[in-house]
Amino acid sequence: MDFVNENTITEIAMRRWGTAKNPRLAKIMPALIKHLHAFAREVELTPEEWIAGIQWLTAVGQISDEKRMEGILASDVFGLSMLVVMMNARTPAGATPNTVLGPFHIDGSPEMAKDADMSQGLSGEKLYVSGVVRGLDGKPIPNAVLDVWQADEEGSYEAQVPGANEYLRAIYRTDDQGRYGLWTIAPKGYAIPMDGPVGQLIEQTDISYYRPSHFHAMVVAPGYQPLITHLFRQGAPYLENDVVFGVREPLITPFKKHEPGPAPGGQILNEPWLTADYDFVLAPAA
Ligand code: BEZ
Ligand code: FE
Repeated sequence: MDFVNENTITEIAMRRWGTAKNPRLAKIMPALIKHLHAFAREVELTPEEWIAGIQWLTAVGQISDEKRMEGILASDVFGLSMLVVMMNARTPAGATPNTVLGPFHIDGSPEMAKDADMSQGLSGEKLYVSGVVRGLDGKPIPNAVLDVWQADEEGSYEAQVPGANEYLRAIYRTDDQGRYGLWTIAPKGYAIPMDGPVGQLIEQTDISYYRPSHFHAMVVAPGYQPLITHLFRQGAPYLENDVVFGVREPLITPFKKHEPGPAPGGQILNEPWLTADYDFVLAPAA
């Protein structure tokens, strides 16, 4: 009979959970129990701390819905999301690195023609983002799909702007030379949602709860690994301490300033504008 004591409970619980029918679950659950018990032992967890943790997890669930994903936010600020991304997308040197998807991607963005403006008249610094999508061999990839989304001048995404629809998100395709180009406005850095249990925990630390100015892109082409990534504005605040650990050095790109005058797409601008030149390099499909 397996009666427990403080020394044997871990092994007994691991054995019990190792009976899971799904072989991955039979590997994951005993390992999870091993590390949970080791954690409780290491910090000498008290009953008050244990219940505070349970209440925090409950609050994470209670505030979540299909738009507010507090569990993912918790994983993001603990660095777990980026760790999982990096372990599962060990792309070869030279390929554009992957990052977290984040909670603000919306499926089914409108398809836009090359050089079309996805900011549709919103105020902000005008920004032209362009480059080539290519393979590791340098070959341009025609007809690659770029699904892009970003925050506005206030640092808000569509899901955070009441009544907004098809707001600062779009789908573009590369031309027959693998080139893409789009007009938008420069995204602002922003604070992650701080009005929930993740925010309450962060408030008890010195952690900065901001993300640096960035632009999200998901790039997909047949025969290549899908790429989920960000472009970060060189020189932006918070690049060194992004609260979700999303910044990878090759993703930092200058936003070059231009004086008023002729701009890509045949327009004459009477205000200064910015360009970001960035080539996305895709790894071949496994
Ligand atoms: C984002 O970039 O959209 C994001 C990622 C993780 C947490 C919060 C926001
Ligand atoms: Fe973002």
